[in-house]
Amino acid sequence: MADDHVLVVGAGHAAGQLAASLRQGGHAGAVTLVGEEPIAPYQRPPLSKKYLAGELDAARLLLKPESFYAEANVNLRLGRRVQTVDVATKSVALDDGSRAEWDKLVFATGSRVRTLGVPGESLPGVHYLRTAADVDAIRGEFATSKRLVIVGGGYIGLEVAAVAVAHDIDVHLVEAQSRLLSRVVSPDISDFYHRAHSEAGVHIHLDCSVSGFEGAERVSAALLDDGGRLEADLVIIGIGVLPNVELARDAGLDCDNGILVDGYCKTSHNDIYAIGDCCNHPNPVLGRRLRLESVPNALEQAKAVAATLNGTPTEYAQVPWFWSDQYDLKLQIVGLTDGYDQTVVRGDLHSRQFACFYLKQGRLIAVDAVNSPREFLFSKPAVAAGARIPADVLSDPGQSLKDAAQTWPA
Ligand code: APR
Repeated sequence: MADDHVLVVGAGHAAGQLAASLRQGGHAGAVTLVGEEPIAPYQRPPLSKKYLAGELDAARLLLKPESFYAEANVNLRLGRRVQTVDVATKSVALDDGSRAEWDKLVFATGSRVRTLGVPGESLPGVHYLRTAADVDAIRGEFATSKRLVIVGGGYIGLEVAAVAVAHDIDVHLVEAQSRLLSRVVSPDISDFYHRAHSEAGVHIHLDCSVSGFEGAERVSAALLDDGGRLEADLVIIGIGVLPNVELARDAGLDCDNGILVDGYCKTSHNDIYAIGDCCNHPNPVLGRRLRLESVPNALEQAKAVAATLNGTPTEYAQVPWFWSDQYDLKLQIVGLTDGYDQTVVRGDLHSRQFACFYLKQGRLIAVDAVNSPREFLFSKPAVAAGARIPADVLSDPGQSLKDAAQTWPA
């Protein structure tokens, strides 16, 4: 209903977009965002890139200028946590002792860093990277650091490595798996990033992990589980994230690797929704359930739920996509590679511009595009359509993908 009070648990990317879309869509009722960080909703992706590099100031991280929330009559409760959710009375208890009632509740609780849980982890100089405050602390130490150990060779670890070598810091990166970015890309793309980082001067240690950190007043070394030891005056850990589901689970909502929702992002309670990193949703394009750590997913789910709450039931049905910036390399990923049985490269894996297409039984299911925005744009609708495009067309930069697109659906 247009005058419902919509209370959002969380004040990140998904929550900020939801508030904006509710108002744009004409929602007249109260909108409240409760977030534990002291800042209005902001963009997280630049944190490990331009914000860490000192090329973007804090104001430009914000999703909307602070004045937006007052102008749009959105109640921001920042620096506050929701302690409990009571579905019987449709209310929440906050950590300042106050209570708030809601008509519709939206979980946009996001995710938190997975921790290593090893001795020495709380030494000064050892950091996780998830919030603007984390990066503010890291940046304060960047200028004087000579030797950085990064734990984790995924998005965060590799983006940090690229920024750090540009600051003339000696970088060692420790990855538990046998290749970089193994969660998201194929072995060929892992090799490409391995080469790019090695050429830039990053020392990469695969198949090993960190068993502890040494230091007196500050970290001085990382101890490896193979018996090795890497000196360090700064450590940054990026070993993945976990969805924040505890509040929803304690309120009695169904959870399984995220808060379970239907195609409209509605949870097992009729008046409660979940969006962004914390939610596990069915994807009709992929034909299965999944939980995504992705800004585009958070934004599109927020828009769909806002439309639904504003009276137009809207299903969320998008092909996942992601991006990562490292050095001059813009990686844009469309789709998920699970079950691919063929890869086709357009361009040269030894250049800094190519696209790797993933096919399953002849249909395009995903692409990793490096400095190839045209191939990325082509792939979004092509993956959504499950297009069949001949491998010789995909592999030949001389042949137009646009023309090939006219043959959908094959
Ligand atoms: N030691 C070394 N490496 C480890 C360990 C460990 N004990 N545990 C996990 N890893 C490695 C994984 O094998 C993986 O390559 O850490 C990497 C984590 O990569 P991601 O899953 O991409 O997570 P992260 O880089 O932390 O990024 C977290 O932030 O960029 C956003 O939303 C994006 O999902 C991403 C999230």
